[in-house]
Amino acid sequence: MADVLITGCNRGIGLELCRLYKDRGDQVIGVCRTTSPDLEALDIRVIDGIDVSDRRDIEKLQQMLGDQSIDILLNNAGILRGDEFSSLDFDAMLEQFRVNALGPLRVTHALVDNLREGSRVAIVSSRVGSIADNSSGNNYGYRMSKAAVNMAGMNLRHDLEPRGISVALLHPGLVATEMTGGRGITPVASAAGLIDRIDALDLDSSGGFWHAEGYTLPW
Ligand SMILES: NC(=O)c1ccc[n+]([C@@H]2O[C@H](COP(=O)([O-])OP(=O)(O)OC[C@H]3O[C@@H](n4cnc5c(N)ncnc54)[C@H](OP(=O)(O)O)[C@@H]3O)[C@@H](O)[C@H]2O)c1
Repeated sequence: MADVLITGCNRGIGLELCRLYKDRGDQVIGVCRTTSPDLEALDIRVIDGIDVSDRRDIEKLQQMLGDQSIDILLNNAGILRGDEFSSLDFDAMLEQFRVNALGPLRVTHALVDNLREGSRVAIVSSRVGSIADNSSGNNYGYRMSKAAVNMAGMNLRHDLEPRGISVALLHPGLVATEMTGGRGITPVASAAGLIDRIDALDLDSSGGFWHAEGYTLPW
């Protein structure tokens, strides 16, 4: 039985991650800004009122967890503010950086002492953060924030290795959530793939960037 903490757990992929880990008998802590009936129905520990981009909220999270150990830290919370070259919104870009790029780093940094040898950190990034894979343009803020979190993840791989902690950057696929307007595979199918990738993660494979289907993505 693993202790699993998941951000962005009140809906979408995060909710299904909570459900699947709970169903297999793990101890799940769901972290969110605002809880939801679907989340409450899971009957897991929920810590709400936590915005991953807010320093004080993360300090509060740290205090609420105390010395609770975490085997799997799953940084899933994220936002998409669509843009294109003709409609750039620099404030929205900064917002995406605060949530998508700094959020996972802020949470991981704050909770590092809750992790132990053998713990795993997963960051739900996106293949659109891949520079090599960019064949279409657009979504400047989202793409840049996910490229940045990929770099944060690789840095974490190096900094956490001496503690025996591994790190994965994961693309969930195109998933039918509010973020995509309901286009894509089901959140539960995506969550199952993400969990398989995290199960396979160890120090030797740490620092990889994988599709939930199992193949490596280019940087
Ligand atoms: N869906 C896809 O096709 C797709 C593809 C590639 C990557 N991703 C990534 O997968 C992750 C989950 O996305 P999703 O599709 O499940 O999207 P979603 O249904 O829109 O859910 C996003 C989750 O993140 C939370 N969140 C947003 N901003 C937050 C903040 N500042 N602090 C705390 N929580 C925050 C949301 O909470 P609220 O309810 O409070 O807003 C919600 O729980 C994201 O990182 C996303 O970038 C998704």
